[in-house]
Amino acid sequence: MTELPQPNDGTATKTNPSEEARLGSTTDTGAPAPSDRNSLTLGADGPILLHDVHFLNQMAHFNRERVPERNVHAKGSGAFGEFETTGDVSAYTKAALFQQGTRTEMLARFSTVAGEQGSPDTWRDPRGFALKFYTSEGNYDLVGNNTPVFFIRDTMKFPHFIRSQKRRGGSGLRDNNMQWDFWTLNPESAHQVTYLMGDRGIPRSYRHMNGYGSHTYLWVNEAGDKHWVKYHFHSNQGVEGLTDDDATRIAGEDADFHRRDLNDAIARGDHPSWTLSIQAMPYEDARTYHLNPFDLTKIWPHGDYPLIEVGTMTLNRNPENFFAEIEQAAFEPSATVPGIGFSPDKMLLGRAFSYADTHRYRIGPNYLQLPVNRPRVEVNTYTQDGPMAYEHRSDDPVYAPNTFGRGYADQVGEVDDGWEADGAMVRQAYTLREDDDDWSQAGALVREVWDDDQRATFVKTVSGHLLGGVEGDVLERAFVYWKSVDADTGKQIEEIVRAGADHGGPGAQPGNAAEDASDPVVERDTH
Ligand code: HEM
Repeated sequence: MTELPQPNDGTATKTNPSEEARLGSTTDTGAPAPSDRNSLTLGADGPILLHDVHFLNQMAHFNRERVPERNVHAKGSGAFGEFETTGDVSAYTKAALFQQGTRTEMLARFSTVAGEQGSPDTWRDPRGFALKFYTSEGNYDLVGNNTPVFFIRDTMKFPHFIRSQKRRGGSGLRDNNMQWDFWTLNPESAHQVTYLMGDRGIPRSYRHMNGYGSHTYLWVNEAGDKHWVKYHFHSNQGVEGLTDDDATRIAGEDADFHRRDLNDAIARGDHPSWTLSIQAMPYEDARTYHLNPFDLTKIWPHGDYPLIEVGTMTLNRNPENFFAEIEQAAFEPSATVPGIGFSPDKMLLGRAFSYADTHRYRIGPNYLQLPVNRPRVEVNTYTQDGPMAYEHRSDDPVYAPNTFGRGYADQVGEVDDGWEADGAMVRQAYTLREDDDDWSQAGALVREVWDDDQRATFVKTVSGHLLGGVEGDVLERAFVYWKSVDADTGKQIEEIVRAGADHGGPGAQPGNAAEDASDPVVERDTH
């Protein structure tokens, strides 16, 4: 029978029989640890001594155990796996990982956006879909979401957007009024908010959601031909959502519901997989396409650019240590490989800076030397030193050019994954094209993609959200916003909310209805 340790076990050397078989513990510097149960005191009842360096080290290290959580996407879960390219997409990209038959080791991390580390997995929020491919040409990171579009189209707005979704300075509470204030003042959010409030707004699990690169990327083949590309990862488990009621119940019962599901599925050998397809737009088409192909609030209709199958991603290994391999994992859209480039999408170009910069702050400037982030190829960079530098180079000169050891082997001249741009410097929104409005694609989702049941649930979800503290002008703008997306649906939302407010629902203030959908505050941002 297992023996419990004695309560006042000050001097005993054994607490249970199995301890004999264990290795003795050591200090961090490798010497045998004096004791991991008793601090050094002056007599059994006396004060702790300052030279108990083992205790001091344990405590000091413990005090530094956490790195800051991610500013967004703090709560997440991850697993390792493999990507296999099964299709022949060599006409589109020369990237080694996307050549037919190639298998590439990879890491995925899924997340919610606005909540903190301990927040429930089932809150309504977009889900992050971050992938790191350890390719033979260096790391390739594709940091996407489970939605094909986003709330805004200019990076400049991102910090503002996130602050509107996080907590208020005074109360420390999240605030629906603040969220809707931002959304309705930025009508380009309509497509994503429609998506978020719809059936796919809360996935049943991370396994039951699609992933999207969302942005437009540039693919270049061996001959230098270019295509603009969008990525779609379709779940082979199917796409399923949770109702608000189930999500709320689960949030109370198991805040780690999605983390547990992913971990358990992989542990029992039920390895989730996703099929990657791309949409490819010939380079020149972008000039004349009827909507701006780089606007992150828009999708490209599949009728215009059909899906082309690329391969399969399978997750088959849980992390051995969550902190080392998931918390310290650092994904960055700036990690690209030959054959894949950015596009003129202003969001993507902003993200190309943001992530590596936040990693330098959150983890430290040498975050790429950690095993989970380290490329699986030789790294031959001139950056050096800094806190926690681990990969030391030889005595080679660390400047370029040099006449010893390594020198320039870089490229000059034309950039093969670039595009032409010219004009005066300005600060203004994208030039409008024929079909560049903020409402049509959101309206098409409501009218053409959803059925009656889905529309009814959507009306209920939005109304419930608005009744949760949205008031005054913000509420009036919200009615205009939804009537601009779809007149009928918007009207239903307005009726329910006004009736709810009349019956004591929180927040809503009837009156002053802004009936006119051209209210300037919800007009498209064109300047
Ligand atoms: C995480 C910035 C837009 C997907 C983050 C982080 C930052 C950030 C600072 C924290 C990273 C970390 O600490 O490890 C931005 C900026 C954006 C933007 C400035 C707009 C310009 C987007 C978009 C998507 C996205 C459009 C998806 C299409 C993600 C994901 C993560 C993340 C998935 C979590 C990565 C992980 O699992 O570690 N973002 N973001 N973000 N972002 Fe963004």
